[in-house]
Amino acid sequence: MRYQDVHHLSVSNPRFFWRQKMNLIKWFEEPKEILTRGPNGLYKWFEGGVLNTCYLALDYHVDHGRGRQVALYYDSASAHLKRSYTYRELRDEVAKFAGVLRNQGVEKGDRVIIYMPMVAEAVISMLACARLGAVHSVVFGGFAPHELAVRIDDAKPKLLITASCGLEFNRVIEYKPLVDAALDEAQFPPQKVIVFPRPQATATMVEGRDLDWHDLMHHAQPVDCVPVQATDPLYILYTSGTTGKPKGVVRDNGGHAVALKYSMKTVYNTNPGEVFWAASDVGWVVGHSYIVYGPLIHGCTTVLFEGKPVRTPDAGSFWRVIQDYGVAAFFTAPTAFRAIKKEDPDAHLRRQYDISTLRTLYLAGERLDPPTHEWLNQVLDVPIVDHWWQTETGWPIVANPMGLDPHRVKVGSATFAVPGFKVEVLDENGAPVAANETGNICLKLPLPPGCLPTLWNDEEGFRNSYLKSFEGYYHTADGGYLDEDGYLFVMGRTDDVINVAGHRLSTGEMEELIGAHAAVAECAVVGIDDELKGQVPIGLVVLKDGADKDEAAIEAELVDVIRNEIGAVAAFRKAIVVPRLPKTRSGKILRKTIRRLAVEEQIVVPPTIDDPAIIAEIRTALRKHRVGQYARLPLGDDDAEGM
Ligand code: COA
Ligand code: AMP
Repeated sequence: MRYQDVHHLSVSNPRFFWRQKMNLIKWFEEPKEILTRGPNGLYKWFEGGVLNTCYLALDYHVDHGRGRQVALYYDSASAHLKRSYTYRELRDEVAKFAGVLRNQGVEKGDRVIIYMPMVAEAVISMLACARLGAVHSVVFGGFAPHELAVRIDDAKPKLLITASCGLEFNRVIEYKPLVDAALDEAQFPPQKVIVFPRPQATATMVEGRDLDWHDLMHHAQPVDCVPVQATDPLYILYTSGTTGKPKGVVRDNGGHAVALKYSMKTVYNTNPGEVFWAASDVGWVVGHSYIVYGPLIHGCTTVLFEGKPVRTPDAGSFWRVIQDYGVAAFFTAPTAFRAIKKEDPDAHLRRQYDISTLRTLYLAGERLDPPTHEWLNQVLDVPIVDHWWQTETGWPIVANPMGLDPHRVKVGSATFAVPGFKVEVLDENGAPVAANETGNICLKLPLPPGCLPTLWNDEEGFRNSYLKSFEGYYHTADGGYLDEDGYLFVMGRTDDVINVAGHRLSTGEMEELIGAHAAVAECAVVGIDDELKGQVPIGLVVLKDGADKDEAAIEAELVDVIRNEIGAVAAFRKAIVVPRLPKTRSGKILRKTIRRLAVEEQIVVPPTIDDPAIIAEIRTALRKHRVGQYARLPLGDDDAEGM
């Protein structure tokens, strides 16, 4: 069947389509319903189905002849360590660690927070939770204690699992002090903390609360998979919204397993037994779906890489990993290749490695900018697939369906809606716009299996964030257009979310934190285009009358606030004091105008602006602080006095 037919069937008769696809996985008990809509109006997939996601990822393969195949290669360029686990070895480790969790009282439905670097034990922890039917919530290691505390208070976990440290280039980041600070701040701290010790740092243990991973494993017995309902939650993954309160995206067990299994062939064109590598972090959705669950459920070998695209030890690290493990499908964010291109523009290092196993490169997490796409085309002779999705959907919404019916690539487009997703572009009134016209990208309900059924403990928030703006649709908060051939071009977020080096962050949250500073009257934080990271946040700050006007000191304090409260990943380095902010006559801050002023020579001043004279003031401030296009000015060629 051709793509068009498959897609048409999937959206015109989703029950029929997904009834067939549900047989891709092994159920303990088959679903009684394919798709139901509850009295609250929300959809559920595969009600009545009973399964276990850890069983599908590990035991199923051991029972069906893959016991000796490598399930996971762990490669730490940072720690100079390599290790592999066969399916049987990984199953045994996971079953034993599930025994550890059970000994600590963790049962089906309990939440467990995992705050870990890229070590195999992070994957083992996730799968052990899945084995018990416990709900894991992985928190990205780059987040500061406050962010961890906020997530702890929302999830109310029984247990937290961490490691003594993470490794960033050649720096050791001690995790335990961060965890201790988060637990001090949290109102609902877990009773126990399991610490995986790494040789690079020794954790200070709190007696009666903190437990050593190895001690516990020594005494534990393996446990079996606990059957769960298809609609039971597998995990919660918090993601940035428009405020300081992150959204707890819920993933169910049944829809998730079916969707990921389906995507591994349809989108990623991989077969069981092949090596699939997603160079991301287990703290992000890409890590959940395509380091851990997708490849393992499909019977692939996955790679867990602790390192960066550059300086671990050089810009050849990705090529080295592809060669060492015979990677067939590789997935990362465009920012990683921008970093490689900057250090090795002619890709000399690529020629030192045999990467002939690589069939396809997949990119997501942010827009694949045309210069990076073109550079990759010159460097590689495999298809380059841009694809678009979100934490909320859990798997690709729009992609070139490489395992179904590959299409001609249009640079700048993620290609077509993946079967299951009906993508439309709507104007502010909810009417479809014409081809090539930009609007709000929306997904017609019901969303396919694998997408979030709701937000954790926040059904109202789920409705308000995603379902309220356009009746009958899920609002993605991305803007873009469909061209005359139906190719989707995603142009960027329409809300206060930005994408910094593939990390999703909330400028709204940064504004809340900056606005709370004693000297600040009001502020605007915007994402400015950045050659390496895609976007970086900057703050424009208006001080209170009579506030201490030592601008450099205030800037340093605000940079510290964001680093200490959100984390280093926010890459917030500039807080610029300005006399006032550009606003509409009704008092709305013109953030888009600020963004444009930073990167465009000429901008159209919005007719609604209250005072056009302010444009020149902001431009001067951006120039003085060398933001965006002004960063390229030679030093001394501008009004840089007082910098
Ligand atoms: N634990 C602790 N700190 C972390 C961290 C972690 N897991 N991850 C990042 N950080 C810190 C970094 O050390 C850095 O701190 P610094 O400001 O003190 O130097 C800061 O957060 C920013 O990190 P990062 O965004 O990774 O920038 P970088 O300059 O260190 O590296 C890239 C830039 C492009 C090489 C890197 O961002 C990268 O490889 N990105 C790939 C994209 C990706 O994985 N996206 C996930 C979605 S697919
Ligand atoms: P996250 O939830 O962290 O995966 O971030 C999702 C957001 O990243 C989306 O809403 C988009 O804004 C952006 N994004 C992800 N993939 C792409 C892509 N291929 N093209 C453009 N934007 C993307």
